[in-house]
Amino acid sequence: MNKDLEQFERRIIVTGGAGFIGSNLLLLLVPKYPDYLLVNVDCLTYAANLSNLRPIENHPNYVFEHVNICDRSGLKECFDKYAVDAVIHLAAESHVDRSILGPADFIDTNIMGTFNLLELARARMEQKASFRFHHISTDEVFGSLGETGYFTEETPYRPSSPYSASKAAGDHLVGSYHKTYGLNTVTTNCSNNYGPYQFPEKLIPLIIRNAREGLPLPVYGDGKNIRDWLYVEDHCRALDLVFHEGTAGKTYNIGGSNEIENVVLVRRICRLMDERLGGGKREELIEFVKDRPGHDRRYAIDASLIQRELGWKPQHSFDAGLKATVAWYLDNEDWLDNCISGKYLKYYEEMYSNR
Ligand SMILES: NC(=O)c1ccc[n+]([C@@H]2O[C@H](COP(=O)([O-])OP(=O)(O)OC[C@H]3O[C@@H](n4cnc5c(N)ncnc54)[C@H](O)[C@@H]3O)[C@@H](O)[C@H]2O)c1
Repeated sequence: MNKDLEQFERRIIVTGGAGFIGSNLLLLLVPKYPDYLLVNVDCLTYAANLSNLRPIENHPNYVFEHVNICDRSGLKECFDKYAVDAVIHLAAESHVDRSILGPADFIDTNIMGTFNLLELARARMEQKASFRFHHISTDEVFGSLGETGYFTEETPYRPSSPYSASKAAGDHLVGSYHKTYGLNTVTTNCSNNYGPYQFPEKLIPLIIRNAREGLPLPVYGDGKNIRDWLYVEDHCRALDLVFHEGTAGKTYNIGGSNEIENVVLVRRICRLMDERLGGGKREELIEFVKDRPGHDRRYAIDASLIQRELGWKPQHSFDAGLKATVAWYLDNEDWLDNCISGKYLKYYEEMYSNR
């Protein structure tokens, strides 16, 4: 290993670091762990935005590699170049509606991409037997709940969409690499995240954006589907904890205990925007639209294992987190506009094309 690499206590690939959760995670980890080299491996799909990472892009312990996790030889070069000893795997096609329109990319990235990473991790076990593999997944793998009950780590998998089925396949592969090859894995299954840097196709930034423009606010079906929301910073703190302290081979559920019907959430966003911007009742823009096929009714997480074992609990109340989120998108209108127009892609060309 060369001297530049030897100075780092750990060398970690973070896949999908230019996406919503990945950006928030790197903004937490890079300054917090100056002795770790954090290698952001991302192929920059429509959902990525490297400008999120401006505050850390010149840190000596951060590098970006423009690599697709479906390209095993490109990935291998990264593993070798940085003598990697851990992976935190967030890269995914992540939008359920897109998976219904066209599942192929979901199968490639979420299953084959995960498989490529596992194979390279398995090979690295020869140099580093304790190679750590943290797989980031979703509560959607469990399917839908009725009016009562919670998802625990023992809940059987019943994915409904091509997205959740592809994530479930990834989870099973990761579990099998622990059981079969003794790979030091952890998997986390988290509920819906919200907060800064989320691509505005997802419910909360979509509603903020449309309400700002006076456009219709589409709500699926009767609007009574329930999601359990967690502020992204709380998720990232949980990931930090599980990566470092989670038991090998285990899975941990992460959730905010904030169950709310979609339509109630949309009304709350409207009220927050009315308070801030004035100009009439935005909830009158709500339009109920034809339901998503296979739409899960209710998700709710039992997060008692991570609370008990690792001492994690969310720090942001839903009221405070939602208020901060609405304020962030309104204060960062350029970010939203650049996302929608695709202008942020220019940032990549300016920053990285000559490197
Ligand atoms: N957003 C949520 O509410 C939520 C909840 C639970 C779990 N998750 C999981 O967390 C992870 C991150 O989610 P997100 O919301 O940040 O997603 P996102 O869509 O915002 O970002 C995904 C990132 O992965 C990158 N990527 C996609 N395909 C790739 C490929 N083939 N090679 C390299 N990079 C690729 C994209 O460019 C993007 O930067 C995903 O695995 C998702 O399943 C998300």
